[in-house]
Amino acid sequence: MCANILAAVAWPYANGPRHIGHVSGFGVPSDVFARYMRMTGHTVLMVSGTDEHGTAIQVKADQEGLTARETADKYHRVIAEDLQGLGLSYDLYTRTTTDNHRQVVQELFRTLYDNGYIVKQTQMGAISPSTGRTLPDRYIEGVCPICGFDGARGDQCDNCGNQLDPADLKNPRSRINGEVPDFVQTEHFFLDLPALAGQLGEWLQTREDWRPNVLRFSYNLLKDLRPRAITRDLDWGIPVPVEGWENEPMKRIYVWFDAVIGYLSASVEWARRSGDPDAWKRFWHDEQARSYYFMGKDNIVFHSVIWPGILLGADGEGAKGGTPSEWLGRLDLPTEVVSSEFLTMRGSKVASSRGASILVGDFLREFGPDALRYFIAVAGPENQDTDFTWEEFIRRNNFELANEWGNLVNRSISMAQKNVGAIPTPGEFTEADTAVLGASREAFAVVGEYLGLCKFKAAISEAMRVVSLANKYLSDQEPWKLKDDPSRRDTVLFVALQVVSDCNVMLTPFLPHAAQKVWEALGNTGVWAAQPQLVEVTEGETVYPVLQGDYTSQQARWESIPIEAGTPLDKPTPLFRKLDESLAETGPSWAPIQPV
Ligand code: MF3
Ligand code: ZN
Repeated sequence: MCANILAAVAWPYANGPRHIGHVSGFGVPSDVFARYMRMTGHTVLMVSGTDEHGTAIQVKADQEGLTARETADKYHRVIAEDLQGLGLSYDLYTRTTTDNHRQVVQELFRTLYDNGYIVKQTQMGAISPSTGRTLPDRYIEGVCPICGFDGARGDQCDNCGNQLDPADLKNPRSRINGEVPDFVQTEHFFLDLPALAGQLGEWLQTREDWRPNVLRFSYNLLKDLRPRAITRDLDWGIPVPVEGWENEPMKRIYVWFDAVIGYLSASVEWARRSGDPDAWKRFWHDEQARSYYFMGKDNIVFHSVIWPGILLGADGEGAKGGTPSEWLGRLDLPTEVVSSEFLTMRGSKVASSRGASILVGDFLREFGPDALRYFIAVAGPENQDTDFTWEEFIRRNNFELANEWGNLVNRSISMAQKNVGAIPTPGEFTEADTAVLGASREAFAVVGEYLGLCKFKAAISEAMRVVSLANKYLSDQEPWKLKDDPSRRDTVLFVALQVVSDCNVMLTPFLPHAAQKVWEALGNTGVWAAQPQLVEVTEGETVYPVLQGDYTSQQARWESIPIEAGTPLDKPTPLFRKLDESLAETGPSWAPIQPV
């Protein structure tokens, strides 16, 4: 069995607080997966960080009257706090403005350059006359040359759906401040994707088990691969490590080129912080190691084509050959690209750029982490775009989480506590007893297989099916009516508690906070499910938080753990709060439902 697993989680932009759509794409799925893999004895490295370079951050900074660096500092902290609150078990959550990241990015750039996969070309670029910076295609708008729609963007027209070039637009203007861009000749470095296309195609053919939508999409991209600009006219980003370019104030590496390299640089940083500087190699140099990349669907191309292309080129395995970097060595390509669809809200994408959004921080303050984690796992956009509604959230929370799971835990523990004060000693098992115990024991393999395949909905549904079985078992056996037969009553309560314990193990990857409470409520001590910690670190003048965690000493493991008769029990407190149903009509004050 293979032991080392890299869980590579997409890097959120530092251009504002994140909304629940973001964490449903990359956050909760990756954490459920990583927690499950740790529980089954794998060595997991889960890394990510805040994506802090590029135009999106610069634009936000200009809006807020801050520098790009101040904006990055501000939102890195907000995002790190939100992800910690949600209980995402990163081994390291860092950021792209560190010195380590710059060094790794520049090393890979130089390696690709030396191997011949980075070439210089001149192109027409749109420049903002007031700042001298590149105006990215999507920040330019004007009249569509095809359908005449006024409001087409430089990359495409939302009215007729055609792909556009900014220079085609009539009456072009900046969406940031309305000014007319200058179109000038500008020199940039391009990643020579055509020289990598052959190898990329061969490698994709070995990825048979990817989700079909990801594969189909990636093959399509291969049909028309052109060199892709990986530098920009911009002063915010990583300097280009080529002679004559390093000190150019207005030339920087393109944000997407630097961000995907974050998976590697964060692994290197994690190893250094853990005191074993070579430890990252176990996840990048070992052919047996597996890597799973988690993201929203708008990120697929960067993970299934661009990042593998960068790795192939740096490994010296494209049409032009080459040799790997001495420092970083030959690097493994992704094993799996796991992408989610979008979480929408009332038909429109919940995107911060379009206003309406439900922020993670607000959500956590009002409803706590596991209510959100549950909703995303059971009703999130795993396979199709999904509309978030308060009504559905309240229903799932009240009728599934609280009524089904919370109630099962609560009534079994309180009956045992009231009648026995401890886990009761069982007598002979009846057929009904053996059936429910068997069903919960057998579910481990089924739920586990789904989790290993990143089929999260199927996994949690199967676990919740066992919860329902247990509730039905209790209603059938009616232990509350067995005052005169304490031995049978104790047997029923014992069986119920064993199934509660089993369900709690299976729900741990989804509901780690509740799982810790149930573990304790069953009379156990110590850490069952570990949580990430915010740790303040210093680099140069800046103090900033990273997320780290000790997940190796947690007790969580993927198996039925026999409960022990006689273990003392305390009176349990409710696991989940039932929410006021009027919320379904109004929404909370910080994200009220807008009349349509
Ligand atoms: N910041 C990007 C986004 O929010 C994701 C970057 S993922 C990485 O869409 F691969 F580049 F790291
Ligand atoms: Zn058009």
